[in-house]
Amino acid sequence: MIMSTQHFKEFYTDWRSLAERTFSTEVENPRGREKYGGIALTGMGGSGIIGDVIHVLAFDSSDIPTVVVKDFSLPKFVKDDWLVLAISYSGNTKETLSTVYEALSRGCDVAGVSSGGKLAEIAREKGLTYLQVESGRVPRASMPALLIGALKVLRAKGMNFPLPSSEGLTKLGEIGEAEALAEDITERLAGRVPVFLSDVRHYPLAVRAKNEFNENAKIPAKVEVLPEWGHNDIVGWEKWLGPFTAIVLELGEGDKLMKFAAAYLRDVGVPVKELVMSDSMTYVDRVLWYSLVLGLASLKLAEIRGVDPGVTESISRYKAFLKSWSPSIES
Ligand code: PA5
Repeated sequence: MIMSTQHFKEFYTDWRSLAERTFSTEVENPRGREKYGGIALTGMGGSGIIGDVIHVLAFDSSDIPTVVVKDFSLPKFVKDDWLVLAISYSGNTKETLSTVYEALSRGCDVAGVSSGGKLAEIAREKGLTYLQVESGRVPRASMPALLIGALKVLRAKGMNFPLPSSEGLTKLGEIGEAEALAEDITERLAGRVPVFLSDVRHYPLAVRAKNEFNENAKIPAKVEVLPEWGHNDIVGWEKWLGPFTAIVLELGEGDKLMKFAAAYLRDVGVPVKELVMSDSMTYVDRVLWYSLVLGLASLKLAEIRGVDPGVTESISRYKAFLKSWSPSIES
């Protein structure tokens, strides 16, 4: 898809209406089982990140375990009493489809979210619980639709995962504020490699940010997660080589753990931007809002670098390779 950055940006600036439209999209075959042993969330890249967000939401919302699968196969412990929710924007991603076939053969309850593709075909043929999101975008720019779609599917299965609030949706429409926050991040990144630091709960946001800078701005980026950071990554900064800029994701002004990381990095001379996130938002609202902000920052950098954010040639190259290759999976 070749288009100007300005046009591509509209796939982000319309997130509020995209989210509202997904709220009114019906879940097909909305039925669940009495009891589940766990939930496996499968998907890759811009679709797979939804699994990470739901995995964190499950800390407080689920009585059963969740596992995120970004691979061709499911772990052994995913048995026939598990729900396997496959998320793939295109509906054609090989790793994700391979988990769907495996889940079906194990007798799991399988559900899906996609904009069409093979996943939609399988879901309709087998009467699976499924939600179709709008097509014509790229996966990463469809985040609110994929997230709300996945949460609606889980709720249709009788699982009480929270949806974005109406305040959260209104916030997604505050583009001027998002652009200003994005600008402040981008201007510290020209010619530098971003390193996103977060706590465990905001790990999905840090990974999402990394992926956005990889895919939209075509640069490498890194993620470091506390508290594990304090046991290894921290040492890597003692004699660091540039050029890095650390973006530290902090929850409110009182986030002592993340502030320690920011202060330490400054001490050793790393340029640091502290992104102080609102602690009065719900988790889902916060993840969506700051995903918008960081996504817009990656688009601004794409513009500065003169690269097309909408084209990901190397992902197409990898997917073409997968057409002629399958992993040999040992049982
Ligand atoms: O953002 C992207 O374009 C990629 O990360 C894709 O999400 C990834 O390749 C998986 O494709 P899909 O989301 O169609 O399953």
